Amino acid sequence: MRFLKIIFFFIAFQMTAQQGGMWIPSLLEGMNEDEMQSLGSKLTAQDIYDVNNSSLKDAIGHFNGGCTSEVISPKGLLLTNHHCGFSQIQSHSSLENDYLRDGFWAMTLEEEIPNDGLFVEFIVRIEDVTDAMLAGVTNEMSPRARQSKIDINRNAVVKATQKEDWQGIKIRPFYKGNAYYLFVTERFEDVRLVGAPPSSIGKFGSDTDNWVWPRHTGDFSMFRIYADKNNRPAKYSKDNVPYKPKHFLPVSLDGIEEGDFTMVFGFPGRTNEYLPAVAIEQITQKVNPSNIAIREAALKVIDANMKADDQIRIQYASKQARIANAWKKWIGENLGIQKSGAIAIKRKFESDFTKALKAKGMETEYGTILPEFSRLYNEFEAVNVKRNNFIEVFFRTNELMQMAFRAFQMEQAIIANPNNLDKAVESFKNRLKRIHKNYNVNVDKGVYQAVMPLYTSTVDASIYDKTAFTDMDSASKLLEGTGDEILEKLNNDAAYQYAKPLIKEFYTKLEPEFQQINTQINALQTKYMTALMKVMPEERYFPDANSTLRVTYGKVNGYAPRDAVYYDPVTYLDGVIEKYVPGDYEFDVPQKLRDLYDAKDYGQYADKNGKLPICFLGTNHTTGGNSGSPAIDAEGNLVGLNFDRVWEGTMSDIYYDPEICRNIMVDLRYVLFIVDKYAGAKRLIDEMKLVHPKKK
Ligand code: ARG
Ligand code: GLU
Repeated sequence: MRFLKIIFFFIAFQMTAQQGGMWIPSLLEGMNEDEMQSLGSKLTAQDIYDVNNSSLKDAIGHFNGGCTSEVISPKGLLLTNHHCGFSQIQSHSSLENDYLRDGFWAMTLEEEIPNDGLFVEFIVRIEDVTDAMLAGVTNEMSPRARQSKIDINRNAVVKATQKEDWQGIKIRPFYKGNAYYLFVTERFEDVRLVGAPPSSIGKFGSDTDNWVWPRHTGDFSMFRIYADKNNRPAKYSKDNVPYKPKHFLPVSLDGIEEGDFTMVFGFPGRTNEYLPAVAIEQITQKVNPSNIAIREAALKVIDANMKADDQIRIQYASKQARIANAWKKWIGENLGIQKSGAIAIKRKFESDFTKALKAKGMETEYGTILPEFSRLYNEFEAVNVKRNNFIEVFFRTNELMQMAFRAFQMEQAIIANPNNLDKAVESFKNRLKRIHKNYNVNVDKGVYQAVMPLYTSTVDASIYDKTAFTDMDSASKLLEGTGDEILEKLNNDAAYQYAKPLIKEFYTKLEPEFQQINTQINALQTKYMTALMKVMPEERYFPDANSTLRVTYGKVNGYAPRDAVYYDPVTYLDGVIEKYVPGDYEFDVPQKLRDLYDAKDYGQYADKNGKLPICFLGTNHTTGGNSGSPAIDAEGNLVGLNFDRVWEGTMSDIYYDPEICRNIMVDLRYVLFIVDKYAGAKRLIDEMKLVHPKKK
């Protein structure tokens, strides 16, 4: 009997322990703590999150609002991905100092490079403020009334929250607005570039290997946080000193093996795990395909130009990576949704939900939700697709249209109040400067010709020969004079004349229609979440990602993507050499790395079989924003650096399938090897705490 019980428990745990989820660090006690420990973790909930003592969370920083980073030394040394530090690395690169191509290593503190605008934010504490935020909010309220009540409550909550002067406050909705949590934050603004490998290591495999396993990318870069003399956040100053963190992660030299516990701790950006089937249909069948086509058209032009010209390669590196990343992700997402049968699975789930509603007598309260979703998404489709495509063309791909869009905003601001003139012109000029820092008119014209026909039938590339905006000097001249003069010149500009009706259509039609339906969809999604948790309380619910600090956990594990194929969970340097194509823009390998491989000069970083591990897979449920997140072992040491997911599991933002969804991490031993043996930056190794948790 007892034996059976143990077996049963074991099976139940096997089934539940791998189903993903991104959990709130302050709420791990109980279910999550048990699950983690049954997966092999030795950590308590308090080791991970503690308000009164230092804990793992004190080492985890939100990197520039988009990625994750972690402190790995008592001197504020910070680890994140190469692709997260990419725009900083790019901005310090030139044809003479090509840090993108050759890498960069500061050999002293003095050589570390400041980065204008870059920040890292830590979480001081998390509070459940649901009751205060939802006080006086009722189900009968219109979405608008509800929101304004919540805004009033928010002000009161912020006022009542104790914090130090230099700290900030954020409040975010969870479970589609059924709960609210408050975050007290500390933001550091003096963050300097310490080191980056060459792109042939940090971006090895580039777009061909992106979102794909097996992977061999050393996707890491290093920064350092500087603080003032009191160890507090401060703007850049040469007098600032390396930050002394409340906690930093020791680095394990023992690495991982298949089956080992791992936890990924970071700031996942956005998931949508509770969408109705109709929404998934719309995303995969309408929105994704048209967005993919626009990006694909732009990439063809940009890629060809980057390959032909080194100056353009540097200028467009960051833009190209951004465009290519989501482009490929959407393709994978669509394939995964199809292959996993996600839509049919959701439909089945929805029919179970409907049955449960009947069985529990809750039909009157919640029975209209699903039919309402169908009606709303049907109404939503045309405007949703068109608005998405507008954003792709006017913000993500074509730069001249982006300039025209900003010019339109400037014009509106001046018309609204002529006293705004100086401010509006100034802010538009700053936008233009930022765009022109990395602008090539021929590339952009090519992009225009490629993407615009996918948005509208009126295309006129001659605007490129007539407009003032493709050149910073002529653009500046256009912005001289009185308000009336500027607006007159603007409205005579060929590109502006072309773009203005399209932008007007966006503001007067697309955006209002979109918002009007979207507000209703969001309100319904809130109600659906409430209903799910009430009607089917036995299901596993975790809040969708919302760029707040989360814990996700699992174990090192391969996967079987299709019949007769199994992927091992670890790759080695041997695989880098296998992929090596001399001189290739994606698969070249630096001479020095090949020499180290030939000499098997791996130092203390080889595994027990003498091989150098590069990347590994886990069952941790991650998403964009988890880039740069630490993979932490059973005892709280750093073993990996998260940077991607596998192709077959890319749909996990919408539908998480534990069988094939895997996250991809760089093995920390490869990171250390590159820093030490490849770059010779031993000073960085010396400030870390290297440990051997498995050799006790
Ligand atoms: N796919 C990873 C992520 O979503 C890595 C992106 C790196 N960019 C690239 N174009 N290779 O961020
Ligand atoms: N590379 C992604 C990022 O920048 C993380 C990978 C993912 O989306 O899972 O956040």
